[in-house]
Amino acid sequence: SRRKPALDEKLSSPLQVFGQAKKQINGIFVNIQDYVANASERMTDMNIECPDVINEKELKSILDYRSKVKGICEVLTRDHMKVAFFGRTSNGKSTVVNAMLGDKVLPSGIGHTTNCFLQVEGSQTGEAYLVTEGSKEKQNVESVSHLAHALNYEKQLNEKELVHVYWPKDKCGLLRDDVALVDSPGVDVTPHLDDWIDAHCIDADVFVLVANAESTLMITEKNFFHKVSSKLSKPNIFILNNRWDASANEPEFLDQFNSQEQVRKQHMERATDFLVKELKVCTAEEAASRVFFISAKEVLQARVQERKGLAPNSGALAEGFITRYKEFEEFEHKFEECISKSAIKTKFLNHSQQGKHLIDEICKIMETIFKRSLEQTKIKGAQKKEYQEKLNFTNQQLENLTNMLKIKIRNVTDDVEDKVSKALNDEIRRLYVLV
Ligand code: GTP
Ligand code: MG
Repeated sequence: SRRKPALDEKLSSPLQVFGQAKKQINGIFVNIQDYVANASERMTDMNIECPDVINEKELKSILDYRSKVKGICEVLTRDHMKVAFFGRTSNGKSTVVNAMLGDKVLPSGIGHTTNCFLQVEGSQTGEAYLVTEGSKEKQNVESVSHLAHALNYEKQLNEKELVHVYWPKDKCGLLRDDVALVDSPGVDVTPHLDDWIDAHCIDADVFVLVANAESTLMITEKNFFHKVSSKLSKPNIFILNNRWDASANEPEFLDQFNSQEQVRKQHMERATDFLVKELKVCTAEEAASRVFFISAKEVLQARVQERKGLAPNSGALAEGFITRYKEFEEFEHKFEECISKSAIKTKFLNHSQQGKHLIDEICKIMETIFKRSLEQTKIKGAQKKEYQEKLNFTNQQLENLTNMLKIKIRNVTDDVEDKVSKALNDEIRRLYVLV
């Protein structure tokens, strides 16, 4: 009967579904690795002792599978969820990343600030450091201004280059749960969008378009996402209308109460049309949970205050701060659900299919060997009792291992899917309770 996955641990975020699935599939691949190692050692021995039972071709295949499984295991331990942020210069991409991290990690400011790709991910050692492309040297980062300096002056960085920023995991839940956040230079400052996409976007699970709510979606931003969706099938795209705090300060709006709502409606319609009709990446219903009106600057400020033990709403804030803050949290929640689900599908489903294929191929070889050895056993019959016993023992062991793993690998894809749907159902139930 089919084993149901155990979901005992309490999940505080949908991101942890990814962590659990990763742990589970890792465990299974470690088993497969043991099995293939065991099988190949046995076959190497048998090939020496009984060369008429196992041929060189079969032996070579098993050794090839052994290195393939090792390769998958290595990729698996590195697998993470990846989100990439795009938009025009100064729309607030770096500020959004910082707000999600809950701290001023990346340099932000007026004018053209970010001049290369920056990938923030959790540091294993607990220290903050950065590594530039093609280098292994860890450069210590003590502060944001230090980071900005290292990025701007010490190196002449190419806009296409990727700098890895490793930030202590204990400082941010997203990093702890294996999310890597990629900040980019403005899409308007480069003619090389295709190169960007090939170099940095192909393996992204989620894209966030950081738009400026004070203006409207620009052609350069739209073009970029048209290119992305021509290279990836149905990318997951969120649109953040950032700087929404500015709308609260518009003097015109103070007189006409509805104006802010009208601007929101207009942005919402345009963003929805873009996602649904132009890019065709989601339905109109889905678009409602893909478009948000936020102020990254306010959220960042509030979270920095909270870190210092102050109230989040201390400091000068525009009217409607709480509503905007809540909308940012809602975005984060939808984002977490989306990235976890997507990363499990794209990363682990592929591995588990590869795993199934490998096991099937290995089983075929084993079965051939098994049959051949039975024939050999019959032929040699009572001639050599000892030889026969050795063969029987090996056959039995190989058969047991093969069967056990066949069952395990069959279950893994279903388990991973089960986990996602269970976590989402729980979430929907939780929301119903809240409503
Ligand atoms: P580049 O890296 O140059 O492409 O810019 P960016 O998109 O990363 O923008 P960045 O985060 O550096 O923000 C640009 C400026 O806008 C900074 O001075 C931010 O403080 C400010 N800013 C960002 N988000 C908001 C917001 O929601 N409201 C307001 N009022 N200002 C914001
Ligand atoms: Mg920036």
